[in-house]
Order: sequence, then structure tokens, then C-alpha cells
Amino acid sequence: MLKPLDQSGVWRFRELLPPLAEQRVITLREGNTPLYHLQRCASLTGIDSLYAKHQGMNPTGSFKDTGMTVAATAAHATGFHWVACASTGNTSASMAAYAARGNMCSLVLIPEGKISWGKLSQSLDYGALTCQLRTDFDGCVRILNDLVRQKPVYLLNSVNPYRIEGQKTAAVELLEQLEWQVPDHIIVPGGNLGNSSAIGKALLEMHQLKLISRLPKVSIVQAQGANPFYRSVHEFGGAKLEPMTADTMATAIRIGNPASWKKALRVLQSTGGEVEQVTELEIAEAKAEIGADGIGCEPASAVTLAGLKKLSQRGFVKPGETVILILTGHLLKDPDFTIKFHRGDLFEGTLQEREAVRTKQLQRAPVVLDATLAAVISALEAAEKIP
Ligand code: F0G
Repeated sequence: MLKPLDQSGVWRFRELLPPLAEQRVITLREGNTPLYHLQRCASLTGIDSLYAKHQGMNPTGSFKDTGMTVAATAAHATGFHWVACASTGNTSASMAAYAARGNMCSLVLIPEGKISWGKLSQSLDYGALTCQLRTDFDGCVRILNDLVRQKPVYLLNSVNPYRIEGQKTAAVELLEQLEWQVPDHIIVPGGNLGNSSAIGKALLEMHQLKLISRLPKVSIVQAQGANPFYRSVHEFGGAKLEPMTADTMATAIRIGNPASWKKALRVLQSTGGEVEQVTELEIAEAKAEIGADGIGCEPASAVTLAGLKKLSQRGFVKPGETVILILTGHLLKDPDFTIKFHRGDLFEGTLQEREAVRTKQLQRAPVVLDATLAAVISALEAAEKIP
């Protein structure tokens, strides 16, 4: 549980909730996620000091858990029996787990057919009422907003302020892991834009409290097919955001009308960060590269590495600088994507099919063999010839 760091009232978390006995905190021991040096990606990008803060190492496999412990505890403490969220899969998995731990019922609204099986299976096992609506994420949000006006259901989407407070943890942990040496860049995937807002808020508060002497640049990366924030900044100078119909295989960030775009814009402006967009092919490539580093992540997290390559190409990130990628979800969240990629099927029948040939070197399709020693040895010898 966060404690106020001084009397200035910046960390008001405890004031917002009635005092809680430790045993009433709903927790799965989230947080304390690892910070990894990405050796291969570092030599690939020419940025030696390249690290990943892996939020996918949280109990339900995504960054949502550090916010969910706070918001689920708030829901419980205020006497709610039902909690609910619209989700692309990770919020729902996390919410369902924390609701179950707190003996609350949970309602999940997800777009039918557009979330990964891994995430769907989590909310089923944790006992949520899971509704697959024939719409997209943005349609689920609209229905949820109407529902909470009519029913005593506690809303756990990332507009919930307790979730944002909890998600600040990643930035505080990061600075602690870096022994309070401020990195030059933090790169975050952008969907509904709650996470970038939370990380930015934490950094600004730490700066205000003089825990850090300067601010890292926080940059946000979106998938090209789900890029309303990128367009807002690049086409309208952040003056407005035009909602769009989003489409990307990185289903976690398949969001066309991000709720927290104004907060994220303030984070960009106050830290001097950039917003970048990346193609489906760039995402798939970056995901395999993070995997080859022995780390792995889900597709939405890989936009960070893909975005870094572009930011460094245009000189915004320089070789000597320290860069942190926020990996938001675990590799096992979306095994379908990974298996299709390695089998070479991911881009079959798409416009990027031809171009996808360039990812061949990264593919490690399983080989089916006769069950003989000779067959395995010849596979081994063939593999040794691959550069
Ligand atoms: N990465 C992953 C793995 C996510 O699940 C999400 C969002 C994001 C990045 C984007 O974060 O929305 O704070 O900008 N997932 C939400 C969900 C929308 O319902 O699970 P954001």
C-alpha cells in the first residue's frame, strides 16, 4: 500500500479512502516487477542502455494489477457487491481475480472475437459474469457507462482514479531500481491512455517532491490501425481527438476513442515526449526480438520496441541515452499470435503478406519429426547451420 511520502498532500491516496485495516486490502502481491537489460535488442537498436520494466510479471500477467489492488479495495471498502469493466482482455482478467479475492461479483464486457483466449480464460476461471458483446471495445465502454447509471455497479475502467493511483507504482519502482538515476526516455504503449497518464503523474509528483532532479521524456506508441492519439497530436496539435474504428492484431490496444487522451497529452507536453505509430509488421517483428532476448511480451507491449526504432531513426532518441520500455503484458497472454508468427501464417491473406517475408529469420516454427535419435540429430545439425 502506498504511504504519503511527506506532508505536502501530493500522495493523497490514504485521505481518499477511509482508513483500512491491512487485512481488508485486496492483494495478490502485485508489483516489484523486474527491470531487465535487453542485450540483443540493445545491439540491434544501437542503444546500449536499453531496459524493459516488465509489468507482465504481475500476478495476472499484466500491468493492470497494481491499479486493480487499489480500486478493488476501494470498491470493497465502500460496500459494493458488483464491480464491472469494459475491456480488451487484461483489465477484465485482473478485475475478475481481485473481485474474487474480495468476495465481490464481477461483470466483464468484452468485444466478441477480439480478445485473446488466454485473457478470456482468465476471467472465466476467476468466476466473472463474462459478456461477449457484438461490438468493439468502444461500444462496450458506451454500454458500461449507461449501466453504472442504472445499477449499483462499481466501475473499474481506467478512468477510475484509484486505478491510476495504483498504476503509478511502476514508475516509482523503476526509479528505485535505477537507484534514482533518471533515465532519458520511458516508452509506453498507448490504448485507452490510462497507463501513460499514471506513469506521467507519478514522475511529475516525484519531481515535485524532489525525489528526482529532472523528468524523463515519456513517449507513447500506438498501432497504426488504432492511432487516434497519434493523429490528434500530429494532425490537430492535440486540439481535438477524432474517434475512429480501430483495427490491429495487438488486440489489447484496439481502441478508437481513448478515455484519457487529455491526461496523456499533458504528460507528453510536460515531459517533452513524442507520440509514434507502428505497423502490424513492425509490431510482430519487435515482439519476436523481445522474445529472442529471453524476455517475451504480448503484441501490444512490443509497440514500445518498434516505436523506439523509429524514434531513434529520427534522432529523437540518441545512442548514448538510457531508455526504458514498459512491457505491459506477458508473452503467454496471446499464444495464438506467437504461434501464427513462427509458423509464418500471421500475415497470410493480408496486404503485408509479401513484406512479411523479411521476418523469416526471426521465425522458429516447430519441426515435426519421426521419434528417432537420427531425426533429432539431423534437426540439430540443420539448426547449427542457421546463422
Ligand atoms: N498493453 C496492454 C497489454 C494492455 O492490455 C493495454 C490496455 C495497453 C497496453 C494500453 O494501456 O489503455 O492504459 O493505454 N488494455 C485495456 C484492457 C484497455 O481492457 O485490458 P492503456
